[in-house]
Amino acid sequence: MKDILQELEDRRASARLGGGQARIDGQHAKGKLTARERIDLLLDEGSFEEFDMFVAHRCTDFGMEASRPYGDGVVTGWGTVNGRMIYVFSQDFTVFGGSLSETHAAKICKIMDMAMQNGAPVIGINDSGGARIQEGVASLAGYADVFQRNIMASGVVPQISLIMGPCAGGAVYSPAMTDFIFMVRDTSYMFVTGPDVVKTVTNEVVTAEELGGAKTHTTKSSVADGAFEDDMEALMEVRRLIDFLPLSNREKPPVRPFFDTPDRIEPSLDTLIPANPNQPYDMRELILKIADESDFYELQQDFARNILTGFIRLEGSTVGVVANQPMVLAGCLDIDSSRKAARFVRFCDAFEIPILTLVDVPGFLPGTGQEYGGVIKHGAKLLFAYGEATVPKVTVITRKAYGGAYDVMASKHLRGDFNYAWPTAEIAVMGAKGAVEILYRSELGDPDKIAARTRDYENRFANPFVAAEKGFVDEVIQPRSTRKRVCRAFASLRGKKLTNPWKKHDNIPL
Ligand code: HXC
Repeated sequence: MKDILQELEDRRASARLGGGQARIDGQHAKGKLTARERIDLLLDEGSFEEFDMFVAHRCTDFGMEASRPYGDGVVTGWGTVNGRMIYVFSQDFTVFGGSLSETHAAKICKIMDMAMQNGAPVIGINDSGGARIQEGVASLAGYADVFQRNIMASGVVPQISLIMGPCAGGAVYSPAMTDFIFMVRDTSYMFVTGPDVVKTVTNEVVTAEELGGAKTHTTKSSVADGAFEDDMEALMEVRRLIDFLPLSNREKPPVRPFFDTPDRIEPSLDTLIPANPNQPYDMRELILKIADESDFYELQQDFARNILTGFIRLEGSTVGVVANQPMVLAGCLDIDSSRKAARFVRFCDAFEIPILTLVDVPGFLPGTGQEYGGVIKHGAKLLFAYGEATVPKVTVITRKAYGGAYDVMASKHLRGDFNYAWPTAEIAVMGAKGAVEILYRSELGDPDKIAARTRDYENRFANPFVAAEKGFVDEVIQPRSTRKRVCRAFASLRGKKLTNPWKKHDNIPL
């Protein structure tokens, strides 16, 4: 009996060594942690329960039968993050470069199936050379099995990808279909075709970092939602994110203890809006002053900075925030910001996370670049996302809400539940200058007349009261009491029930 127990321990020790100490040292030398070290940091101490520790590949080509390490290059299982269950897979670069074989894929699929069945998020830690070359099509089949599960799990359980090494070729499409992707600066990259192929086909010379590093994907492509300095920081930030999320679409978002007063008054907000309507201010300040303990988990911070997206808590409950940022492009909506916000709104709606929208938008960004790039379709994504969302929606217009962008930004007409405006709000088809130039074209040669017309227009429309008269704004509120009003609004919506007409699925403009 003792021998058998010892044999189990020996086998476990061998599995834990992965590709061996030399390769573990190599991993550390690159500034990367091992698959198991990453899991240990991600999960609550001692909470990890492993599956399939002794699985080995079944490949017999290219002499592979001589090397069948336990685990086959991926560590899978479940554990807890601050006491809440999650499933995790972590690719082990020390075993065949973390490459994905038929059995490696089957291990990932097993935990994904369990996550969907039992209602818990899936966290995938990617560090892999891609398809196991020796296995050929069996490996491609394995990828497709994972892809299919990513699709089935979408909207059922949150899926988060951490890219902590190479992720290339078709392998990128599994993270791409998850809800959030985070990368580590300097040690991770993602691309469909690498620098060598790019050079051959397009003659462009580019490094792996330039082509698919964290900076590229957080500033240019928007593939990644955030980038961190090292593995440790990335794992800690994912723990923080999980705290905001429900475990599945069968559960409400978590309610955490909070140490802030819901009716906190912020007198400084009364002067947030500058006297000059063309002067920017930082919308982030408003978010921080509304949020419990000023805690804002921002997503896609470095992409489409004219819109802010992320999570806060109000009275301990998670709320998704979408806010125009007047500091960048005057807060205009454009292709990138519409795409960014639309995806975020759909995530919130899929997981029953209420949405707070803060509006200061002079309209859609004009220009051939925008029109040729399809701003019509991309803008429609955000409009569609807000319109189909059935979660509680509270909107505060702080200053400009012009034109189509007024409608798009969670207006009353898109089933907004509470639509507040500050006294500084300006709600109209367009700004005074543009409107007067169209309405009084024949008087353009007379500056005095035009100035008088502009004043008239401003007096009539540069305020929230026309919209309030019509009930499109439910109440004009004091800026200082925004947190209190918004908290009360969401509290009153806790029992909200709204369903859309039955359909197989919608046809959002992709
Ligand atoms: C089998 C692989 C492998 C792979 C790496 N290894 N990638 N084994 N299949 N795809 C092995 C190496 O042979 C090596 O084994 C060990 O892992 C470490 O690799 P190194 O090359 O020494 O590491 P490094 O210098 O850090 O380079 C990492 C790398 C490189 C950039 C990822 O290994 C590489 O380019 N690999 C191939 C990538 C690739 O083309 N994959 C297929 C992509 S297409 P030893 O025993 O020598 O230590 C794809 C299609 C997916 O993935 C389709 C889905 C639909």
